[in-house]
Amino acid sequence: MMEGTQSAVQPKKATRKMSEGMGPELSKLANNLVTKFHVLMRISQIYDSKNVALHQFIQESLQTINTLIESEGGLSLKIVKDDFFLNEQRLRYSVEGFTSFKYLLTQWKKRLIGEVIFKSPVDERILKEFIYILIHLDEGREENAALFNEQLASRNIASVAVNPLEVAEGEEEAFTLQREDQREVGKKVFFETIGTIKEVITQIKSKQYADVRKLKRLAQKAVHLVIEDESILLGMTTIKNYDEYTFNHSVNVSIYSLAIGKRLGFSKKPLTELGITALLHDIGKSKIPREVLNKPASLDEEEWGMMKRHPLMGVEIVLNLKQLGEINPRMVIGIFDHHLKSDLSGYPKLFQKKEMSLFGRIIQIADSYDAMTTPRIYKKIPYTPEQALALLLRERTVHYDPILLKIFIGLVGIYPIGSLVLLNTREMGIVYKPDHDPKWLERPTVILVARGEKGDVKKEVVDLKETDGVGHYKRSIVKTLDPYQYHIDIAKYFL
Ligand SMILES: [Fe+2]
Ligand SMILES: [Fe+2]
Repeated sequence: MMEGTQSAVQPKKATRKMSEGMGPELSKLANNLVTKFHVLMRISQIYDSKNVALHQFIQESLQTINTLIESEGGLSLKIVKDDFFLNEQRLRYSVEGFTSFKYLLTQWKKRLIGEVIFKSPVDERILKEFIYILIHLDEGREENAALFNEQLASRNIASVAVNPLEVAEGEEEAFTLQREDQREVGKKVFFETIGTIKEVITQIKSKQYADVRKLKRLAQKAVHLVIEDESILLGMTTIKNYDEYTFNHSVNVSIYSLAIGKRLGFSKKPLTELGITALLHDIGKSKIPREVLNKPASLDEEEWGMMKRHPLMGVEIVLNLKQLGEINPRMVIGIFDHHLKSDLSGYPKLFQKKEMSLFGRIIQIADSYDAMTTPRIYKKIPYTPEQALALLLRERTVHYDPILLKIFIGLVGIYPIGSLVLLNTREMGIVYKPDHDPKWLERPTVILVARGEKGDVKKEVVDLKETDGVGHYKRSIVKTLDPYQYHIDIAKYFL
């Protein structure tokens, strides 16, 4: 989310408070560090400590570790619940870093190690000893941290120390929210798709063509998930904190479009086509210079002209794809249409009147909603889901398909997934899953949020349809709140 004013590198002891923000430089180094630890743990389980490949990788890792120690005056990597904190600043993992992040979190937790501290720069011997002691710890043994420190001391290593994993009081109950398999699959599909879109765009930039088969496979998986339980992927659309807007945006638009398509009764094949089209809807933007795409000020006429060409450039790119067989006219027209608007006041300008295609109309709604609810460089505080829906509704007859819009609102609910709401019990909740039955639109399932010392924590998942036994609802929504005002990172609750 937006914490633009934080300085990139903070001296270690200046603040003891856990902080949410980390500058982009430090964030990069921190992600790099997590990846290095991940790979180190993996290869040390395969090779013995004298192996050449290991030696090389140790050298690379030392550079990352020591750079961090030198610039920060020390390094502490600590697990707090399901997050890593580097020198007390929460680490936001990048898309590429997700696997490493997950691996390290699980492996350290299994061994009940909660924090690793490097006090001063280390050398190859120390790092090797550290890694080998770590991987040989028994899982679930409570004394692991103490044993670890003893072993380090017996090898005369004073620059490294570890602390046991802290389990916050009541955390077990608070996190009983089942992280079912479906959710894990959802996460994987989501992050893999973002990665693949990124690959496709990079390929197009350099070689003018791209492999879309992988994209198709992922779209098929997403279709499967949406058919089973659309709320999982819809929850993922609250993740808006990546630097790279385009990739994240394409995936979100695809999720919303699939959910609309499902409501329209599409079968798997057209759903997959719709999913791919939505993933590629802004592919034409890969031809627009970054400076224009990320310009904080308003665009001049020439820049606007360029921007308005992206649907057409998208069509051109798609028609040049190597696997043209995967593409059909419906998909191409969908890309062409997505900024046209019902009264044809959008772009590209047409010489002859035509009706907007169904794919185009669906993607247009998904696209507008996601763009409005995402922070951008030129609009740092985005619209809340409620405000965005209101804006869409205001233009429903001239710009959008009113029937599709109605379906979309039914889908995200009056209280879309990820909305922060105030309850009549004075509790705050995050909308987790709307009820399938439209008559319960006002009573979704929510995650209760408590404000603790270390920021917001998840309390429990409650169904607002619950009554107290004498016919009164236990909790009801009073109004929606702006998460930015309360500094709540909504996405965290869906990971
Ligand atoms: Fe677009
Ligand atoms: Fe878009």
